[in-house]
Amino acid sequence: MAHLPGPAAAQSSNAESKSNAESNSSPGSESGPQSRSNAQRSIPGVALADAAPPWAAIGRPATPAEIAAWDIDVRADFTGLPPGSGSVDEGMEIWDAQCASCHGTFGESNEVFTPIVGGTTQEDIRTGRVANLLRADFPQRTTLMKLSQLSTLWDYINRAMPWNAPKSLSVDEVYAVTAYILNLGDIVPDDFVLSHENVAEVQQRLPNRNGKKFFEPMWSVAGKPDVQGDACMNDCETEAQVRSRLPDFARNAHGNLAAQHRVVGPVRGADTAQPPLSSLDAQAVREAARATVVAALARAPAVAVAPPLAGAPSAGAADAKAAGPPPAQLAASANCMACHGVDKRLVGPSFREVAERYRGQPGASALLAGRVKNGGQGVWGQVPMPANATIPDEDVRRIVGWILDGAV
Ligand code: HEC
Ligand code: HEC
Repeated sequence: MAHLPGPAAAQSSNAESKSNAESNSSPGSESGPQSRSNAQRSIPGVALADAAPPWAAIGRPATPAEIAAWDIDVRADFTGLPPGSGSVDEGMEIWDAQCASCHGTFGESNEVFTPIVGGTTQEDIRTGRVANLLRADFPQRTTLMKLSQLSTLWDYINRAMPWNAPKSLSVDEVYAVTAYILNLGDIVPDDFVLSHENVAEVQQRLPNRNGKKFFEPMWSVAGKPDVQGDACMNDCETEAQVRSRLPDFARNAHGNLAAQHRVVGPVRGADTAQPPLSSLDAQAVREAARATVVAALARAPAVAVAPPLAGAPSAGAADAKAAGPPPAQLAASANCMACHGVDKRLVGPSFREVAERYRGQPGASALLAGRVKNGGQGVWGQVPMPANATIPDEDVRRIVGWILDGAV
């Protein structure tokens, strides 16, 4: 094994300390009843002795093997790093066979992702600060320029690469390919063997190891982090609010976002191949919306509709049996769910909101059936609903009945 040149502050790896820490605290070693009573104790208002909590019959404790499969993180101090080793030479073979196609033979490719290697110097290895990061005219920021913890590189490759087959590398292969990347950056010599015993030394040669900075005014406000993530437990907001939007100059910068998203589920991209909806007249909006929906439908696999819950109250249930597929399914196949959620606002109002608004109003079903059929605008906002002229009247009637019943 080669010796490291330069300022390698010898530091022993504490890889072993993790296994000790783990065997003391591994949740998998607890018995089921034990963990349950712990959970109970921590829930205020739940009687300890009397009844089992309602969730007692749900799930089972994770097995030690299951926990071990998830528990693969390697921390900055190398806690969690499994023992092993791999040479630059072995790494080169793995890289050429499994990584170079996407990242380039020398880690220089800009095709699939920003380059892994490049932009660092021997002077950076000495100072621990990458000088090129400060140059506004430097074209790219490579992985090795930014990396301040070697554990991150090892951990990331171990859990996520190769992209098309994550977690397929053995521990020794991860060491080897990590060594090869470091060698491409001239951080370790050609005959180097990276192992759990010398990672801490190599850490001391990372070009940007001193590049981390805690930016006080941004991350700390009156001694607290500037972002708080409180888990809301009651009276929580139920509707999503749009708090940012795509600026006009960025429209279509990366192709049509709508075409790059799934057409099921709440997240759908704007049709960025079209001008912003707000700048169009109603007829053009209708055409744009229709074009998007039609194109999405053409690409989409059939939308799966959850079967109705057994015993769920549904005014239309008897009706549904008599007259074909349940209204929820009709709505899905008529593509209503591309723009409406049952209880989430998408392009149009949620069906629950609609039910709320028209509750008890005489003539509501005829009014809404007409709007669904012919399109509507201005009741819920500026975006119009295009006409749904091809859906049979009977289906429209049943869908609207279902919506007015609360879409259950
Ligand atoms: C099929 C293409 C593909 C292959 C093969 C592949 N990668 Fe990647 N790699 C990517 C993509 C894409 C990303 C960015 C992923 C992301 O950000 O979610 C990435 C990211 C990375 C990063 C993180 C870079 C950074 O700065 O965040 C490393 C390191 C890396 N790959 C190493 C490897 C290694 C080592 C192999 C081979 C064992 C490999 N990759 C094989 C596509 C690939
Ligand atoms: C391209 C998107 C889109 C599609 C597809 C769509 N809607 Fe709408 N829908 C909207 C928008 C936008 C509104 C709000 C219009 C307004 O503000 O008046 C709306 C409003 C509604 C309303 C309330 C009308 C009112 O006047 O209060 C109902 C009911 C409705 N849609 C049902 C349906 C049904 C049923 C389907 C399927 C046959 C459907 N929608 C398909 C976008 C769509």
